[in-house]
Amino acid sequence: MTNLELPKIGLGTWKLKPSAAKYSTVEAVKLGYRFIDTAQAYGNEHGVGEGLQEIFSSGILKREEIIVATKLHPLKLRPRSAFKSATKSLKKLKLDYIDILYVHYPAFALGYSHNKTLNAISQLIDEGKVLHVGVSNFTTKMIDDALKVSDKPIYANQIEHHPYLKQRQLLEHHKKKGVHVISYSPLARGFALKDNVIVDIAKKNEMSVAQVCLAWVISKGAIPIPKATSLDHLQDNFAAKDKQLSSEDLDKIDNIQISKRMVHPIVVAPKEWKK
Ligand SMILES: NC(=O)c1ccc[n+]([C@@H]2O[C@H](COP(=O)([O-])OP(=O)(O)OC[C@H]3O[C@@H](n4cnc5c(N)ncnc54)[C@H](OP(=O)(O)O)[C@@H]3O)[C@@H](O)[C@H]2O)c1
Repeated sequence: MTNLELPKIGLGTWKLKPSAAKYSTVEAVKLGYRFIDTAQAYGNEHGVGEGLQEIFSSGILKREEIIVATKLHPLKLRPRSAFKSATKSLKKLKLDYIDILYVHYPAFALGYSHNKTLNAISQLIDEGKVLHVGVSNFTTKMIDDALKVSDKPIYANQIEHHPYLKQRQLLEHHKKKGVHVISYSPLARGFALKDNVIVDIAKKNEMSVAQVCLAWVISKGAIPIPKATSLDHLQDNFAAKDKQLSSEDLDKIDNIQISKRMVHPIVVAPKEWKK
């Protein structure tokens, strides 16, 4: 069991059916990805697990050379459910331990409690089943509250972050607190790929539009986890880790006057988002 450094980019798997999740996991690892993101709610942990098993059994990689993250389902946030569902996740993923176990949403209405849920993850860490406590979709206040009660450090907050949702304050706050930011929907679920400003920057720099979005996210000190189904997209996105934009191009993206959340589920989303 090792504590790997987070790489510059990871792979997202939301909406991938198990067979597609297996394919993307295997091909991504062959390309060099070392950070895979799934969730109990995606219904594809066993696909990711089959992919991981193929990778390990063919000798491409050892378990300790890859970071695998999953998330507690918003209905599994009470301690007893958290323990049970984490054990199921381990089985589906065919792993002995999960690198990062996130609270998928701070679903207070469904039984989430900073104290109880985070300390259940802490217990899973003590048992060797999990390495790090993760949270997702937490506001700055929630991060502060969580940091106060968790007896383990909060390793990362996974938040929506892309050129149409810049999250400046949240990023600044996380930097101060030493909490990693993992950027989900870094391509704004495909919407940012049609943006004129971003398209022009891509043309000028002979980069793909997706690479411009990902390079912008990476420039903010965050780690994007784009979802990709095809080999072309997997390759294109992975290459973004070595791309850099000029400060002039970064400023142009910073100045895009659109602020739009692409993911906003009812009940589980923080009520602050509605403001
Ligand atoms: N914690 C949370 O609450 C939460 C919420 C949402 C997402 N996430 C995580 O973040 C990951 C990424 O977010 P997302 O899936 O919402 O959206 P995304 O990564 O912003 O966008 C995915 C879309 O972009 C396309 N795409 C990917 N690479 C491309 C490329 N190089 N060129 C052109 N199109 C490209 C994909 O198509 P193809 O599939 O055809 O490649 C797909 O349609 C998720 O998969 C999930 O792991 C977490």
